[in-house]
Amino acid sequence: MSLDDPVLAIAPQTQPAAAGSGIPPRFNCFVTGTDTEIGKTLISSAMLHALVQSGVRACGMKPVAAGAELRDGKWHNDDCDQLTAAGNVHLPQSITTPFLFKEPAAPHIAAELEGVSISPVPILAAYVEINAASDAVVVEGVGGFIVPLNDEFDTADLAEQLALPVVLVVGLRLGCISHALLTVEAILSRGLKLAGWVANETQADMAFADENVAALAQRIPAPLLGRVPRLEQPTAEAAADHIDFTQLPHWPLPNPI
Ligand SMILES: Nc1ncnc2c1ncn2[C@@H]1O[C@H](COP(=O)(O)OP(=O)(O)OP(=O)(O)O)[C@@H](O)[C@H]1O
Ligand SMILES: [Mg+2]
Repeated sequence: MSLDDPVLAIAPQTQPAAAGSGIPPRFNCFVTGTDTEIGKTLISSAMLHALVQSGVRACGMKPVAAGAELRDGKWHNDDCDQLTAAGNVHLPQSITTPFLFKEPAAPHIAAELEGVSISPVPILAAYVEINAASDAVVVEGVGGFIVPLNDEFDTADLAEQLALPVVLVVGLRLGCISHALLTVEAILSRGLKLAGWVANETQADMAFADENVAALAQRIPAPLLGRVPRLEQPTAEAAADHIDFTQLPHWPLPNPI
């Protein structure tokens, strides 16, 4: 699939609304991470929680999720459930997650097991619907930044097609500096805006955590939005207390009460 395909192109969210249009720019973003299981869902949920606190209609999207269990006649995925709980716009799961697979495996493998080919078209169509129903959308990626979705299309292509500013979650662990800097390079090389990054302490007592964060802050050309400690209760609200999302472009100002 060509990334220049005009049918699939979505107007970049990083651009302000045209002068005089009267439509304020909205906050939408794509959350990626240095790896799987490093806190993308936690930080995406924290972002949704903070958006809801700001008084806007906020919706999470997990376009592709692998790993689901049947409960009360419905297929559940933890990421989807957490994003739904943190937002305040409730759409059918088939819209917020157009591709949900049972097997907790790499998406293209999980899809193949079900005889499905992941296509960007339903994802982009669903994204348009979510946009129409909300004021802010947080799209959580899958695993790290470049994860194959089919033979020609990966999650970085998806971020590019959605034309969203990216927020990078860095799971603080040995090796995270290279993982983070490689990811930053990949984001920028695709012409995407890196809007900010979050340092997430997925493990307690990492040796030289301060030094790792300092090395990253010196090298990542985007604001450090916050450092989330290892939380006893990793809830959206608890994580949001450690992050200053107002540094993100077009973050909504709280409604005066
Ligand atoms: N700062 C933290 N303190 C405590 N637990 C955390 C923290 N960050 C993440 N976790 C826990 O680590 C696990 C992985 O986090 P999360 O699901 O957010 O990762 P992810 O990057 O979204 O993973 P995936 O690639 O599967 O989508 C979860 O159980 C989460 O609650
Ligand atoms: Mg997740």
